Amino acid sequence: MSNFTNTSLQVQPVAARIGAEVRGIKLSADLNTSEVSAIRQALLKYKVLFFRNQHHLDDHGQEEFSRLFGNLYNHPTVPNKNGTNILELDSTHGSRADAWHTDLTFVDAYPQVSVLRSVVIPEVGGDTVWANTATAYESLPKALRNLVDQLWALHTNDYDYAAYHTNASSEDYQYYNDLFTSTIYETKHPVVRVHPETGERTLVLGQFVKRILDLSLSDSNQLISILQDHITKLENTVRWRWKVGDVVIWDNRATQHYAVNDYGDQTRVVRRVTLAGDIPISVDGKRSVTQRKFKTIPEKV
Ligand SMILES: [Fe+2]
Repeated sequence: MSNFTNTSLQVQPVAARIGAEVRGIKLSADLNTSEVSAIRQALLKYKVLFFRNQHHLDDHGQEEFSRLFGNLYNHPTVPNKNGTNILELDSTHGSRADAWHTDLTFVDAYPQVSVLRSVVIPEVGGDTVWANTATAYESLPKALRNLVDQLWALHTNDYDYAAYHTNASSEDYQYYNDLFTSTIYETKHPVVRVHPETGERTLVLGQFVKRILDLSLSDSNQLISILQDHITKLENTVRWRWKVGDVVIWDNRATQHYAVNDYGDQTRVVRRVTLAGDIPISVDGKRSVTQRKFKTIPEKV
């Protein structure tokens, strides 16, 4: 357990390469600057922070707390919960993120941080698993690091939904077709991004990757599979058993995550705030770019 200077924060790692539980703090917009800075330092080090017993937070409280770490960023296609800056992920309405991903990598400046609060949690199941994309990069053999440093990939929200979600319900399909892809984005990201705060090299892949550019589709698929295997190796992950009132914050520039879809027709509701990120920069200083963006559903008049 480590204590951060000038604060009551206690930080207990949960797994060796990623994830720590933070105790001794009540999350709110009233935190002082040392507490905010201690949370940010811990986030950069552990990539995912878990806070139990934050029952006092409501939607507004979650938003105001999140603002301490950056500007709120709304989902580019899915509407917020009424009157809030919060995206509600409700399992009964098709929101089951059971594929490895980094949030919103189909846009160029995808969020730096996500803040997720649990509202309804199944009696058993519905855990989330996070993976560290910085240690995944470091653990690659040097020859493979040299290769991926030079590669770029196309990310889109128009991905093969059925291939990723093999047990999707009709509500899941409707959510994907009506909301998630109401505007389609295609963005070119470097496969290796230099983290703007830590300088670490991180892998930018996950479910929104369509292909690695300048490779054949077959080579691209095989290389993505090799890299994803490194990212999601069990030693490189942490798994969290949610309780109602938990808040989890992750560095979306250095992680992927997966919501385990093992709870059948039990209800699971979590609410997410995302914070605006900056445009990724490759190891040779080039920036990501959104190449195409177009509406698939005509505007209602
Ligand atoms: Fe997500």
